[in-house]
Amino acid sequence: MEAKHDVLIVGAGCAGMRAAIEAHDAGADVALLSKIHPVRSHSGAAEGGINAALGNASDDDPEQHAYDTVKGSDYLGDQDAIQILCDEAPADVYQLEHWGAVFSRTEDGRIAQRPFGAAGAPRTAYAADITGHVLVHVLYEQVMKREIPTYEEFFAWKLVMNNDRCQGVIAWDLLDGGLKSIGAKTVVVTTGGAGRLYVGTTNAYACTGDGMSMALRVGVALKDMEMMQFHPTTLSPTGVLITEGTRGEGAYLLNSENDRFLKRYAPNAMELASRDVISRAEQTEIDEGRGVNGNVLLDLRHLGAEKILERLHGTRELSMTFAGVDPISEPIPVRPGAHYHMGGIDTDVWGLTNVEGLYAAGECACVSVHGANRLGGNALMETITYGKRVGRHAAEWALANTTVEVPFSIEADSERELNALLDRREGERPWSIRDELASTMHENFGVFRREDQMRKQGEIVETLRERYERVVVEDKGQVFNNDLTQALELGFLLDLAASMVVCGIERKESRGAHARPYDYPDRDDENYLRHTLVTLEDDRPQVDWRPVTLTKWQPQERTY
Ligand code: FUM
Repeated sequence: MEAKHDVLIVGAGCAGMRAAIEAHDAGADVALLSKIHPVRSHSGAAEGGINAALGNASDDDPEQHAYDTVKGSDYLGDQDAIQILCDEAPADVYQLEHWGAVFSRTEDGRIAQRPFGAAGAPRTAYAADITGHVLVHVLYEQVMKREIPTYEEFFAWKLVMNNDRCQGVIAWDLLDGGLKSIGAKTVVVTTGGAGRLYVGTTNAYACTGDGMSMALRVGVALKDMEMMQFHPTTLSPTGVLITEGTRGEGAYLLNSENDRFLKRYAPNAMELASRDVISRAEQTEIDEGRGVNGNVLLDLRHLGAEKILERLHGTRELSMTFAGVDPISEPIPVRPGAHYHMGGIDTDVWGLTNVEGLYAAGECACVSVHGANRLGGNALMETITYGKRVGRHAAEWALANTTVEVPFSIEADSERELNALLDRREGERPWSIRDELASTMHENFGVFRREDQMRKQGEIVETLRERYERVVVEDKGQVFNNDLTQALELGFLLDLAASMVVCGIERKESRGAHARPYDYPDRDDENYLRHTLVTLEDDRPQVDWRPVTLTKWQPQERTY
């Protein structure tokens, strides 16, 4: 064992850093471990804002925030977890402000809040359209101030199970090469999402579902894995996020007939309907021939240059750089793209999994506050509030327990497995499997889902998993061996794709992001007001179910 700590946090985005700060302040010896530098984490790509009922733009309260979140989730979110998020959010945002987060301001100096989709009040606090970037830097400053050690550019590959407890991580040291084992009394997984399962995604190349897959492999259930959110405005052709904040500031969505088509899908909320509704509307327009080269158009021109430059300057930069379009004078071509996994590692409201010592928070976790459809701005909030809670619980448990052991046999087995991969001289290159996976997931498990396509995708993933057994890594070197880490990431992605597809087939209804208009067009609360839970048996995903926690709100029809 290279080192040991009370708490080891795997992943150093907003959830990971917030957890580390809390664990440190609770008195634990905590370390972060991440395959990239913390300020390059994908949390930094979050643009539009963070939701808390501060009431700075109109009357608002946590109860209204909770109701909007429950309704937005298409009633699949657990209401106890949602209530915690919404109750704790305002104080958690003020904490960020006191740490130095430069939020945009109202005329009288309070934190400004903009409208976001499916929210009953302008609730999204923001720093122009670079909110995630600002939060990542503020949290990193706090991590540095506390001198929390960070294993930077360490690629976590396996969770260490010993005596039925998670007691650390086996990681590949990207800079110097070699496997390193880091022991810990508690391990907190905060590795983010898996958007790279899809060819069109807002997610960074690093978003390969590592933590979800590692947890699945040690017997933790993944919850609601069929629920992949498609964001309605991703830039064509790259998939870069164009923030919902544009619509919050008043942008329109147009089809090829210059028509604000949402009046036929969400006549009241229009561009501020929930993401699942807008993505389906856009896809329908495109499929029925009213798209523009496979896109719809996001029109900001009427907002005027001043507002665009002040509040949406990042959007303008991205549009000009990646699509050659200046939104001050031209509409932006956008389409739905994979954005956020509502599903993930099954945890309780303190982030604890069913494995002692193992916790999760942020996008890789499913507590579940987003259910079948996440509201924009709730993801950053979840990283902060649940990052804090999980950090505290993991620290308290670690401080009350003493031993850490990574048995030599586990290190030796991992070494053997890795060497077997590196020693292989012939086989298929990982990228060809990865490309096929991403394009077929897009085709067969996208905005709309059909039984025959999902079954076909299940077979495709099965074949890709077989091919993966013979994958060859050409770079045999020790230093920054991206060929190796991309091969390992592909293994993670394949586990998750298999899990998603079986859950999608089993959920025979339409709810939130899981839309089956051809065979089960309606929500079916009688049979499916339940979470899917997937585990591996003999390496094959098996689905089980758990009821949704309802507290105050009975399911109702969702209209916008
Ligand atoms: O559109 C956006 O700015 C994304 C925000 C989110 O996903 O929460």
